[in-house]
Amino acid sequence: MASNFLFPSLPLLLFLLLTHSGAWPAPQLSTDFYGRSCPQVFDTVRSVVQSAIQQERRMGASLLRLLFHDCFVLGCDASLLLDDTPTFRGEKTAKPNNNSVRGFEVVDQIKAAVEKVCPGVVSCADILAITARDSVVILGGPDWEVKLGRRDSRKASFKKANREIPPPFFSLANLTASFARKGLSLGDLIALSGAHTIGLAQCLNFRDHIYNDTDIDSSFAKMRQAYCPRAVGSGDSILAPLDLQTPTVFNNDYYNNLVAFKGLLHSDQELFKTIGSNSVPLVKYYSGNTAAFFNDFVVGMIKMSDIRPLTGKKGEIRKNCRKMN
Ligand code: HEM
Ligand SMILES: *[C@@H]1O[C@H](CO)[C@@H](O)[C@H](O)[C@H]1NC(C)=O
Ligand SMILES: *[C@@H]1O[C@H](CO)[C@@H](O)[C@H](O)[C@H]1NC(C)=O
Ligand SMILES: *[C@@H]1O[C@H](CO)[C@@H](O)[C@H](O)[C@H]1NC(C)=O
Repeated sequence: MASNFLFPSLPLLLFLLLTHSGAWPAPQLSTDFYGRSCPQVFDTVRSVVQSAIQQERRMGASLLRLLFHDCFVLGCDASLLLDDTPTFRGEKTAKPNNNSVRGFEVVDQIKAAVEKVCPGVVSCADILAITARDSVVILGGPDWEVKLGRRDSRKASFKKANREIPPPFFSLANLTASFARKGLSLGDLIALSGAHTIGLAQCLNFRDHIYNDTDIDSSFAKMRQAYCPRAVGSGDSILAPLDLQTPTVFNNDYYNNLVAFKGLLHSDQELFKTIGSNSVPLVKYYSGNTAAFFNDFVVGMIKMSDIRPLTGKKGEIRKNCRKMN
């Protein structure tokens, strides 16, 4: 026993060497994960996303947002997609999601199309990651290779959906802390917020900003006030574009809006508010440099879609994205 202790066996040595040198890492995401098992996955997802966006341009924005709201709660594990049942409370009715996140029917269509070509192979979590990329590309944004190999959760968290998805009334300090808890930097926060170059928001989410905040262009505030009554409860769900210039094109106008104090959400304008605040230079930079924004947005998206994936034997490959197998 003593000699065994002093001279560990060769397999044990190899094990220690490999696990500690990182040469034998835990299963990780990779771009060719479905290279053999489902090479058709990309074409299949793309064509459903394409036709959904053709029917309604906004859907591209809605699909992109799904990935954010999934990844910030328990990691990128499709926990967001689980439906509530009488015995199970999922994330869909949590405050940031209820009557707000959309696109679940499109995800169902994509999953059905993928199941047809490769049954039981592709996770719903990976479908969300590919779908977000495709939406950005179709609306004119940057392209990138999506890392794959996530598996689907067998749980969800209503509580964490309420606590960990940042709300629109957050300050810059609150937003920074929220992203830091997910391993994302201030730079990632600023680049990823550029997703608000597409899509719409409801009056209840920007009412305080257009009536009470002072860091807003007054003619822009008046324009938005005309379609968002001051009284809480009246016109709460009336929509306005997050980017007043080109709400269905993925470009850098979001930053141009911030520089002109025409951000729609309080949280948007927080990124460009106080002179001397450490987010100001990057907002200015992106407002004048689309290529830099696109580059950093891609970096942020890859980091965000890497948050705590289930890999290897963890979780499962759901048959139906709305329920556990
Ligand atoms: C920085 C913190 C963020 C806050 C506080 C925030 C908040 C919001 C709010 C309040 C809305 C409008 C929802 C509604 O009125 O129903 C919205 C929409 C949207 N968000 Fe964010 N968001 C943030 C970050 C992100 C990120 C990181 C992404 C993606 C990378 C994203 C993508 C979107 C998209 C695309 C929409 C429009 C969705 C649609 O039209 O269906 N957001 N966000
Ligand atoms: C979600 O919204 C519905 C209205 O569409 C409301 O009846 C329900 O109480 C909300 N759920 C939660 C948990 O707030
Ligand atoms: C937001 O920031 C304020 C101070 O800037 C802090 O008191 C508060 O606890 C923060 N809220 C959250 C939810 O992080
Ligand atoms: C604005 O601030 C006042 C005073 O704090 C508050 O009563 C009101 O609800 C806020 N929001 C709007 C939309 O006026």
